[in-house]
Amino acid sequence: MKNKLAIKGGPKTINSKIAHYIWPNISTKTKKAVLNQLNKEISLYVRSGIIEKLETRLSSYFQTKHSLLTSSGTAALHSMYFGGDIQENDEVICPAYTHFATVTPLFQLGATPVLVDCEFDGNIDTSEIESKITQKTKAIVVTHMWGMPCKMDSIVKIARKYGLLLFEDASQAIGATFKGKKVGTFGQAAAFSLQAKKVVTGGEGGVLLTNNDEIYYKALLLGQPRRSEIEIPKPHPLHDYALTGMGLKYRIHPLAAAIANQQLDNLDYIMRNRQRVANKLVKELKHLPGIKTPLIQQESKPSWYSFVMQYDSSELDDLPISKFCEALKAEGCKEVSRPNFTPPLSHFALFQNPGKLFQSYAGKFSYTNKDFPKAERFYNNAIKLPCWYGTESKFVNLYIEAFKKVIDNYRELL
Ligand SMILES: Cc1ncc(COP(=O)(O)O)c(C=O)c1O
Repeated sequence: MKNKLAIKGGPKTINSKIAHYIWPNISTKTKKAVLNQLNKEISLYVRSGIIEKLETRLSSYFQTKHSLLTSSGTAALHSMYFGGDIQENDEVICPAYTHFATVTPLFQLGATPVLVDCEFDGNIDTSEIESKITQKTKAIVVTHMWGMPCKMDSIVKIARKYGLLLFEDASQAIGATFKGKKVGTFGQAAAFSLQAKKVVTGGEGGVLLTNNDEIYYKALLLGQPRRSEIEIPKPHPLHDYALTGMGLKYRIHPLAAAIANQQLDNLDYIMRNRQRVANKLVKELKHLPGIKTPLIQQESKPSWYSFVMQYDSSELDDLPISKFCEALKAEGCKEVSRPNFTPPLSHFALFQNPGKLFQSYAGKFSYTNKDFPKAERFYNNAIKLPCWYGTESKFVNLYIEAFKKVIDNYRELL
């Protein structure tokens, strides 16, 4: 009777009323950092105070010449592309399976996103990149999806071979490494999000990293007018435009910078704990029929932004994933989800019919749901768990128990 599934009237595996997972981790130290900042200054025009402090820390952490804080990850991505001189009619190779904001800023520049299908881990399929390169291709952008590093050695090789700019969207992957090198340091520039769910968060915010002065100056010009005046050197031709910039304002709020600066203190601790929890989840779930735990490239260290596994219904007599997840929910697994907000980009009207919103795109491209079968499969079969990092990691055992129970008894669901 104990094994009867909760969805069929049996006992629930998890009865706890408390939250199973708490993120962001707003500690007393975070609150103190915000109060301190509130008492100091809540608007910073130029690179100073908490903004200078955090940028300096990030530059030292990533060993990059420039770190530029922005109001969001989207703003950092826009700044990155503009900084890299991506212009109208340039083509940029992009992953089809990513958060839409990796690619949407390209529409602001009139550039054409050329989407590429994904591999078994959800990251861009490196074997498909070269066939998409044309005379118009100017850059490649990759996303380390769910914090899993892309195959950066192959990608760097392709970018060098064709003389293309290489950009990284490392929004979900702060702290992750590929062959010992931090993601976000492989190309000419990288963007990160500091939005609330990210491993280092300011609530909202973003970061642009680059060693390239020209990318940095142009990024300043796009969204940081007061800073441009001071930081773009006088003899530089862009200095003439420094006062107004490009007409946008992408400055981070000092309170967001104060939060992120405090959260950065925890990065190593959080990474260690997430790694420990991920190892346990892999060990316990990988042999279960119906479940393929995340496949980690050799020598990669993910950030474990989330633990995203693949469901294989063929091993459970074609039990639909929706029924499987409903049964887990009924067992009390509140944190089990399917990442519905991250479909392949071809699902969005903007990528199917961009001309309706941006006239200059009329007739340029029209992606359909059939274009990226591997991304489609990855998305349809993805089941997400949070990667616990602290005291609430006792829930990990309960979730594992629930997975085992549902799989042991899946026939009740057919
Ligand atoms: C991979 C990726 N890129 C870009 C973004 C956009 O960042 P933001 O929400 O800070 O603008 C996100 C945020 O969720 C993301 O996960």
